[in-house]
Amino acid sequence: MNQIHAYIDRHEARNTEELLDFLRIPSVSARSEHREDTRTAARWLAERMQDAGLNATVHETPGHPVVLGEWLGAGENTRTLLIYGHYDVQPPEPLELWTTPPFEPALRDGRLFARGSVDDKGQLYLHIKALQAHLKVHGRLPVNVIVIAEGEEEVGSANLMPFVSSNTERLRCDAVVISDSSMLAPGMPTIGASLRGLAYFQVNVRGPASDLHSGSYGGAVLNPATALARIIASFHDENGHIAIPGFYDNVKAAKDYADQIRTLPFDEKVFLNETGSAALGGETGFTTFERLWIRPTCEVNGLLSGYTGEGSKTVLPSRAMAKVSCRLVPDQDPERIQKLFVEHVRNVAPAGVTVDVEIMHGGKPWRAKLGGTLYDAASKALQHAFGRPVIYAGEGGSIPIVPEFESVLGAPVLLMGFGLPGENAHAPDEWLSLENYRKGTHAAAALLEEFARSE
Ligand code: BES
Ligand code: MN
Ligand code: MN
Repeated sequence: MNQIHAYIDRHEARNTEELLDFLRIPSVSARSEHREDTRTAARWLAERMQDAGLNATVHETPGHPVVLGEWLGAGENTRTLLIYGHYDVQPPEPLELWTTPPFEPALRDGRLFARGSVDDKGQLYLHIKALQAHLKVHGRLPVNVIVIAEGEEEVGSANLMPFVSSNTERLRCDAVVISDSSMLAPGMPTIGASLRGLAYFQVNVRGPASDLHSGSYGGAVLNPATALARIIASFHDENGHIAIPGFYDNVKAAKDYADQIRTLPFDEKVFLNETGSAALGGETGFTTFERLWIRPTCEVNGLLSGYTGEGSKTVLPSRAMAKVSCRLVPDQDPERIQKLFVEHVRNVAPAGVTVDVEIMHGGKPWRAKLGGTLYDAASKALQHAFGRPVIYAGEGGSIPIVPEFESVLGAPVLLMGFGLPGENAHAPDEWLSLENYRKGTHAAAALLEEFARSE
């Protein structure tokens, strides 16, 4: 292992340079004008996988391609590890809030600033570099490895699900490892114990056929913005509890998990500082970690209506729109939540406006089954790389493919993330800690060895 670690450290500058190249490709999956860039990122990744010593292939889908990197030289009697990550990124806007442009990676204070640095190009690429170190030093890997990288995670993974289902033989594995999450605090190696699910909606409210003079018609014609505000206000009661009938029906009590969460250190001041908000809020009776990891939400993600330009314009808008997402916890089912949400909006919609709800993507919640050889191997690998025992923490975000990997491939999933609080994922000035990039590469390399040994 020492030789491999030395190889990684010796190639630190090159490993960083290559990541910078990856980050320069604007692979924004949500935007059609970046379709070609997203394909370029897939091809770039496949070439780097090939250089690393993997057999790389690019697989077309109705959306963005899936990239596979395979090394099966350990033979049929040795276990196989599947490494998943995504090469697509979130849109970078608002551009004016970036200190340096999102696709011109910049190093400042040990941080690498760029869209996708932490989510997820850096965390995916460190695995490729770990595999390369093994292959260059020993000419082989201690276990069989398949890398699967998708270009649609940030838009719901719609084409990855069918790809996995129709390639179960090729993707057969004993465990899945994913680095697409965060550590609880700097220097604290963290294994992710849960992910929330998701149900995403767009609510469209239509009133008059076109915008009207708010003096000539206001007061006599129903205002769609006010109607939408009423609908949104009906999502929660005064205790921050979600008021959509049936919403909590399948929320499973998770007392053991809640007890474990309570042992983790939480500093409210640090958290407030990280978010830049003046106060915390949410469902009464729950701690912040509980609100983030074991309680569902219903959040407005975007709002649009009427005049929003400079100065004032007296107008009664013709339309109003809201993007709303619900984060889900076990055993809530996105499809059932979609039904309940649509029904609820229909019930509370004021008469006199037309309301329709578009259902966008969704994903199931997930809770790790901690323990077993995979988790033992990961604890050792992380401890080795960071010099500290691991902790188990929840994640508020979603990775829709995770529950599918478990159900379709029948293999346990491990979340071994190297992001940090305040990393600005999905926001301006996203960054990755360079120290975590290096230590994460060490941990990924050590995991292969520990996983082989734990057989
Ligand atoms: N890497 C995140 C998921 C994540 C966020 C894990 C925070 C752990 C902590 C992933 O790229 C992501 O952003 N997922 C989306 C999923 C959605 C677009 C279907 C999310 O959570 O919003
Ligand atoms: Mn991600
Ligand atoms: Mn993301």
